Amino acid sequence: METVFLKASTAAIETAAQMLQAGELVAFPTETVYGLGGDATQSRSVKKIYEAKGRPSDNPLIVHIAERYQLDAFVTTVSDQVEQLIASFWPGPLTLLMPVKEGALAPEVTAGLATVAVRMPSHPLALSLLKATGLPIAAPSANTSGKPSPTKASHVNEDLKGRIACILDGGSTGVGVESTVLDCTGEQPVILRPGGVTKEALAAVIGPVLTDAGLKNAAEKPKAPGMKYTHYAPQAPVYLVDGTRAYFQACIDLFRLEGEVVGVLATDETLATLKGDVHVSTGQATDLASVAARLYDGLRAFNHHEEVTVILAEVYDEAGIGQAVMNRLEKAAGHRYLRASAR
Ligand code: TXA
Ligand code: MG
Repeated sequence: METVFLKASTAAIETAAQMLQAGELVAFPTETVYGLGGDATQSRSVKKIYEAKGRPSDNPLIVHIAERYQLDAFVTTVSDQVEQLIASFWPGPLTLLMPVKEGALAPEVTAGLATVAVRMPSHPLALSLLKATGLPIAAPSANTSGKPSPTKASHVNEDLKGRIACILDGGSTGVGVESTVLDCTGEQPVILRPGGVTKEALAAVIGPVLTDAGLKNAAEKPKAPGMKYTHYAPQAPVYLVDGTRAYFQACIDLFRLEGEVVGVLATDETLATLKGDVHVSTGQATDLASVAARLYDGLRAFNHHEEVTVILAEVYDEAGIGQAVMNRLEKAAGHRYLRASAR
């Protein structure tokens, strides 16, 4: 299949919307990462999404809407707490689980679960496209399953060219990590995937919020099916380095002595003090939002340096957006840490 590449414009949005209405797949930018959209009401479209990404069929998709009233067509109830969250965070990077109305969406969207994950993105292009279709659009991140999510149209092109009808290019996405997935269907709200809306921001609106224990503890199964797969991993193995800069350099030196070619993924400030083989920046240490925005591009960059045999990555404080950054880094590293024993 030929993939049509469109630079964002009013005409491009119209063309892309018609493709979605016809059941084709369109990749489009959101404020978090690029999404791979398909009509959530058509099984034919939703099946194409799983196929294009190579996504396991037990991993449900997020439904994207442009207006609040669209919810009523496919969810049975919206709790007061969810209404409060919608009022505070939509449009924006917060995905909320709600009980799904039977038969309202293609069954593949929810992978057999009783809940559907929904969000209203804040990217103007995403909102215009969603409005132009008038449809609920199922959209996972527009990467091949297992690869880092795309934050640029070129990342989508790398992974999905020839497999989807259209890529709508709206430049780099802003937040850089995916939306926060929050489950408010139980007794206490639980973050199933940390993301663009921080735990602290949620707590300020609805009080204490838990984080799914399955994200850190290998013995427990994560509640979001997608969180159990290895993800975001570049070709070379990644290790997280938790220690001083001197310890970081000692780790680099040790790997090099063993004949490895060492890639280093860290902030500008840290990179300036280290000597590895290939340095990739994650932005500024004083600005964790810049780290989130550059993380996936950084992980992908190592795939263009095939000589690199091992990647050592800096770790960050888990406050604010740091919780999402560390969750993605831990997944990319398969939770492998190098820790200074005496600190
Ligand atoms: O920022 C984002 O959320 C991006 C943009 C494109 O909107 N989308 C995205 O979708 O990251 P995806 O499919 O890559 O990740 C969706 C996550 C997966 O971990 C999936 O298992 C979980 O949400 N999920 C979806 N529906 C669920 C449900 N009903 N119950 C529990 N987890 C669910
Ligand atoms: Mg994804």
